[in-house]
Amino acid sequence: MTATKALKPVFSEEAASQEYAASLDAADPLREFRDQFIIPSKANLATKKLAKPGLSSEPSTYFCGNSLGIQPKAVSKYMEAQLDTWASIGVCGHFTTLEDSPLSQWQLLAEQAAASMSKIVGAQPEEVAAMGTLTMNLHLLLASFYKPTETKRKILMDWKAFPSDHYAIESHVAWHDLDAKENMVLIGPDEGQYEIQTEKILSIIDQHAEDAALLLLPGIQYYTGQLFDIPTITKYAQSKGLIVGWDLAHAYANVDLKLHDWNVDFAAWCTYKYGNAGPGAMGGLFVHERHGQVDYSAGPDTPKFRHRLTGWYGGDRSVRFMMDNKFKPIPGAGGFQLSNPSVIDLTCLCATLSVFDQTSMADLRQKSIKLTAYLEYLLLKDTDEETRLFDIITPSDPHARGAQLSVLLKPGLLHKVSERLQNAGIICDKREPGVVRVAPTPLYNTFSEVFNFVEEFKGALASS
Ligand SMILES: Cc1ncc(COP(=O)(O)O)c(C=O)c1O
Repeated sequence: MTATKALKPVFSEEAASQEYAASLDAADPLREFRDQFIIPSKANLATKKLAKPGLSSEPSTYFCGNSLGIQPKAVSKYMEAQLDTWASIGVCGHFTTLEDSPLSQWQLLAEQAAASMSKIVGAQPEEVAAMGTLTMNLHLLLASFYKPTETKRKILMDWKAFPSDHYAIESHVAWHDLDAKENMVLIGPDEGQYEIQTEKILSIIDQHAEDAALLLLPGIQYYTGQLFDIPTITKYAQSKGLIVGWDLAHAYANVDLKLHDWNVDFAAWCTYKYGNAGPGAMGGLFVHERHGQVDYSAGPDTPKFRHRLTGWYGGDRSVRFMMDNKFKPIPGAGGFQLSNPSVIDLTCLCATLSVFDQTSMADLRQKSIKLTAYLEYLLLKDTDEETRLFDIITPSDPHARGAQLSVLLKPGLLHKVSERLQNAGIICDKREPGVVRVAPTPLYNTFSEVFNFVEEFKGALASS
């Protein structure tokens, strides 16, 4: 615990100036990545039109990567290459590609994306599949991993799970003719708290160890921004006989993950937040290698593999087109694929992944910890708990959070503050009843933007 705290950047008085923020930007080894993105301009946001000549193209301050990341310039280049492939060689694009294309033939494109995503989530390439969307993938994974029995049938989960996760879990419990109230165990914080202590999670696992089948938690909680201790919780729950899955919507491309080494059973994520793959982009899933094995010891036509819902794209490429109706899964997460994937979706995904391929999560995280700590420092500077018009409900330990700070405003302030931020060309999102979620991201945000944001935010509070 002490070692973790020691890593938190500490800022002195002089840090609260525009010049200091600029000096942090000048020293930032990742500063050039910003040029690889299209930052929405204030003019475009105000007019909802593409900037006309003569209109200001001053960039907005985009702190909303926790909801939808901005567009990498690579997307249009990759899309053009893909459209050229389709236009020039049609169906042959399945097995070949144009000479200078940065994209694989369509049959291999999902694997290209999975290989890059595996570096982001700390997995082996075969443990990751680029496919579907987050909720769909959670359904597919629950179909395979949630096997309630007479005695072990409960699912332990976040008390305020993102609604889609809650609905998905509820529907699986009902699918097995089980009662939702009895079989969905909600894990929440202590009264009056926002952070859920790891010890509390472990004690709830203990309480339900006898009859719980599965634990499914968010890596980062979308409302509070809390990053859970994934390795500790996973290990403990597995030691009590539970299968452990993680929804990494807010953790993917945000924090360092080591899904393979942490022995996570399964995980799923979307790629449109910190992953910048575009609205509704294709998602990803992880299945630990021990669950993806295909055993041919009983003969070449009788493979044994983990039960799942199947489709032809989960079938091994060597036999996929034999049309013999003998399902032989691709070993690993690829064996959970169903359909011929959208090449257009995959192209956006591969484009944004080409940016991540130029760096590492360790480097991104290092900057992110500093950026968010700077935001926290400036927000709290010269304030005290008694008189402050807001609380930061995200844990202050950098290892218990990602890029996002959730700022809970006193009642009645949310709309005024949001409007003022919007008028100043600052994009961050609000969640009722009173939270502004602020997420400076290391790939394209700067320390100067953090400084300017806090000036505007405090100005808005002062004038409310
Ligand atoms: C934690 C979490 N789970 C699930 C979802 C739903 O994702 P999708 O609409 O891609 O299925 C989201 C979307 O923001 C989310 O944040």
